Amino acid sequence: MSDALNVLVIGDIIGKAGRRALNQHLPALIDTHHIDFVVANGENLAHGFGTNAKVATEMFKAGVDVLTNGNHCWDQREFMDLIDKDDRYVRPMNFSAFAPGRGWTVQQSKRGHRIAVMNLIGQTFMGAWDCPFAAADRAMGEIPHDVSAILVDMHAEASSEKMGMGWHLDGRASFVYGTHTHIPTCDETIHASGTAYQSDIGMTGSYQSIIGMQVEGALTRMVKRLPQRFEAVEQGGSIFATKVSINSSTRMASSIERIHIPPA
Ligand SMILES: [Fe+2]
Ligand SMILES: [Fe+2]
Repeated sequence: MSDALNVLVIGDIIGKAGRRALNQHLPALIDTHHIDFVVANGENLAHGFGTNAKVATEMFKAGVDVLTNGNHCWDQREFMDLIDKDDRYVRPMNFSAFAPGRGWTVQQSKRGHRIAVMNLIGQTFMGAWDCPFAAADRAMGEIPHDVSAILVDMHAEASSEKMGMGWHLDGRASFVYGTHTHIPTCDETIHASGTAYQSDIGMTGSYQSIIGMQVEGALTRMVKRLPQRFEAVEQGGSIFATKVSINSSTRMASSIERIHIPPA
């Protein structure tokens, strides 16, 4: 099957504000933009901390096909079992080799294309993970050759490291994009060998916040340097997402477009 394939990538979905915005707008977005496949990052789905069955099911029902993850992967303990029961979940490929779950998955699009989704986590300002570049190469060797697109969520703090991954996979992945900072970047591009790239998709959640969390607690922690509880903002979610069109025979990108839906 060789034709244009439209994928929609959503970054970190933050708690109720993010879930509510997606429930409200994702079905129409899929329709209007002729979207074949939707990936989102689920590390902050459950009130900002991790993923559980209830909130993930809500997102799958809204139209998400695969949920990637990040450093908050194990915040909800039930996810350690859940991830092994459902291959629509991926976690970073360069987590410990002993971690549950998988670093890539292949799922079918609405029109029957097989689409691979890979998840990686950065090392810069992020913790002691294995090398994401070696892990990406390993995953590339494992992913079946008949897939129509390869999407790579590089969950990382440093734009430089994410840009490095974009070039490392240029000509091999369809779209390499960043998540984790919760702030969208406007550097979307298509590299020389055909891989689409964006440093961060940005969160789907409330921007009347500090990266999705209520201002008071987060600010008190910065100003007074005292321990504070972080609470996700529950109202006023914006959607930031990126649509990429991909040639399903070459797997390379032909266009990339950022989409923003402001709060209602
Ligand atoms: Fe996040
Ligand atoms: Fe993160």
